[in-house]
Amino acid sequence: MVTSTQFLASLAVLSSAVSASIYAPYNVRNQGVPAGQLKNVSGIEMYISYPPNANTSTRALLYVSDIFGVPLLQNKLLADSLAANDYLVVMPDLFAGDAISVEEQEAGLNLTDWRALHPSSEIDRIINTTLAALKADFGVEKVGGLGYCFGGKYVPRFLKNGGLDLGFIAHPSNLQEAEIGGIENPISIAAGTLDNSFNATAKFRAEEILKINNVTFQSNLYYGAPHGFAVRVNQSVPLQAYAKQASFVQAVTWFDAWL
Ligand SMILES: *[C@@H]1O[C@H](CO)[C@@H](O)[C@H](O)[C@H]1NC(C)=O
Ligand SMILES: *[C@@H]1O[C@H](CO)[C@@H](O)[C@H](O)[C@H]1NC(C)=O
Ligand SMILES: *[C@@H]1O[C@H](CO)[C@@H](O)[C@H](O)[C@H]1NC(C)=O
Ligand SMILES: *[C@@H]1O[C@H](CO)[C@@H](O)[C@H](O)[C@H]1NC(C)=O
Ligand SMILES: *[C@@H]1O[C@H](CO)[C@@H](O)[C@H](O)[C@H]1NC(C)=O
Ligand SMILES: *[C@@H]1O[C@H](CO)[C@@H](O)[C@H](O)[C@H]1NC(C)=O
Ligand SMILES: *[C@@H]1O[C@H](CO)[C@@H](O)[C@H](O)[C@H]1NC(C)=O
Repeated sequence: MVTSTQFLASLAVLSSAVSASIYAPYNVRNQGVPAGQLKNVSGIEMYISYPPNANTSTRALLYVSDIFGVPLLQNKLLADSLAANDYLVVMPDLFAGDAISVEEQEAGLNLTDWRALHPSSEIDRIINTTLAALKADFGVEKVGGLGYCFGGKYVPRFLKNGGLDLGFIAHPSNLQEAEIGGIENPISIAAGTLDNSFNATAKFRAEEILKINNVTFQSNLYYGAPHGFAVRVNQSVPLQAYAKQASFVQAVTWFDAWL
């Protein structure tokens, strides 16, 4: 029988291992200098992280970001950490240089007008263009999609024939049941108990819909994990450090097994 004190103590050990920032597969890197490159592909600025051993992989990951986008260090380091597991990872700038900064969000910026400037039709177009470029310019045959927060709405929209072969979403924002109902290809979901954007009820509904539609899925609920936990956490809070690291492993094992 593990007491809750023992459990928290072991989490603290894990969290210090995580913040040791070992750049290795299955460890998400939380600090340091990004290893990827910025490139303008098909008119879209993209952050591209290459697999360490070869540039000939026919499997790639398309990273659909949160509102903080390419400028956010944690997004780039997360893309690099995925690439370290032998994937070409591409994160398109969804907002044409107009990503929100963490400071602006924390100051309570009203996002209504910003959202109107970046409608679904435009985000869909950017994802479509990125997918086409991966296949035409990079020789990729299979593409997995990762969607975090804002991006968690879009990966499901492309999980069908001719789109993404496999998906992973964490704490999606504004994800509609109709979008979940349209999913055809397998999906892995990471949710947090402290996330009001995609709470335990929404997660349960998503699972029901996927089951009814006979879609292969896998899901985890992380206790004490707030919105954004797969990207931005307070590393001093063991439950948050754990949720970020564990959801990273969730994504990598999912793509390793099925992409
Ligand atoms: C990317 O290239 C297109 C032309 O192909 C150009 O219109 C656009 O401004 C470029 N974007 C950036 C961020 O350099
Ligand atoms: C892969 O391509 C990138 C960009 O051209 C380059 O920086 C990197 O060194 C290449 N990696 C290998 C292992 O060839
Ligand atoms: C945010 O801005 C929109 C449009 O400018 C406005 O209609 C709305 O009332 C604002 N919301 C808040 C909470 O201020
Ligand atoms: C994506 O592009 C394909 C053609 O390559 C088109 O059929 C499809 O409607 C596009 N989807 C979106 C969401 O733009
Ligand atoms: C989740 O949110 C919905 C509506 O936003 C609410 O009805 C439901 O009770 C919430 N579930 C939980 C577990 O908090
Ligand atoms: C569900 O999908 C599997 C393959 O993924 C298929 O073998 C099975 O027949 C399907 N079942 C139903 C009820 O459609
Ligand atoms: C992170 O968590 C620690 C421990 O609870 C707390 O002291 C600190 O203020 C938090 N940092 C931020 C930026 O919230």
